Amino acid sequence: MEIFTATDYAGMSRQAARLVSAQLLLKPDCVLGLATGSTPLGLYSRLIEEYKNGDLDFTEVRTVNLDEYKGLAPGNPQSYGYYMRENLFRHINIKPENTFIPNGLATDAAGECARYDALLDSLGIDLQILGLGENGHIGFNEPGEVFMPSTHLVGLTKSTLAANARYFASLDDVPVYAYTMGIGSILRAKRILLIASGPKKAAALRAALYGPVTPALPASALQLHGYVTVIADAEAMA
Ligand code: PGA
Repeated sequence: MEIFTATDYAGMSRQAARLVSAQLLLKPDCVLGLATGSTPLGLYSRLIEEYKNGDLDFTEVRTVNLDEYKGLAPGNPQSYGYYMRENLFRHINIKPENTFIPNGLATDAAGECARYDALLDSLGIDLQILGLGENGHIGFNEPGEVFMPSTHLVGLTKSTLAANARYFASLDDVPVYAYTMGIGSILRAKRILLIASGPKKAAALRAALYGPVTPALPASALQLHGYVTVIADAEAMA
């Protein structure tokens, strides 16, 4: 595992963008696994900037997202489909048909999970970007008793609902279920980039990197992967 400490959020975003840019330059038709939340926003802004400067080309890139809220249409401003369009896709030259995200409106949950797993198997992720939940989740793999291998429907924990309530009118409006890639799917990515920022992530980051590998702290599974890069700011590394 490679661990880099940046001074602050901007520095973390810059370093992460360098790594993603290098991936795109080395393999222009790579498959990127993408994350949502507040942490990757700075990274996505940097990638947009580099695209606008003519330094990056997304024509052949394909993307798969980690998760989506169950019940939200891609046009819903709180959905991760909307987040990706607004914060990255519509600013770069990626083809919309090359971007994949679980279908929050799927009513057949088992069918949707199987469809997404088949897609992940056929694409193969070159670089998976991950944020980190305050409770140690990655994607929406919440703390539990087992590592979930594949895409599944998950009931979000109180900690996650509370952390995400800031994006909704009230806590009651936060969807309580989400589709998420499993830990197994994440670990099959060739390379993983974990980014974390701020003091609220420090405990989970320490446990993920230096604690026991346990489904009670899902990010600890990253210790089992051979090619993980962690870029965290000083507060998260504290
Ligand atoms: P955040 O969320 O980037 O909004 O802090 C990260 C996560 O929950 O995975």
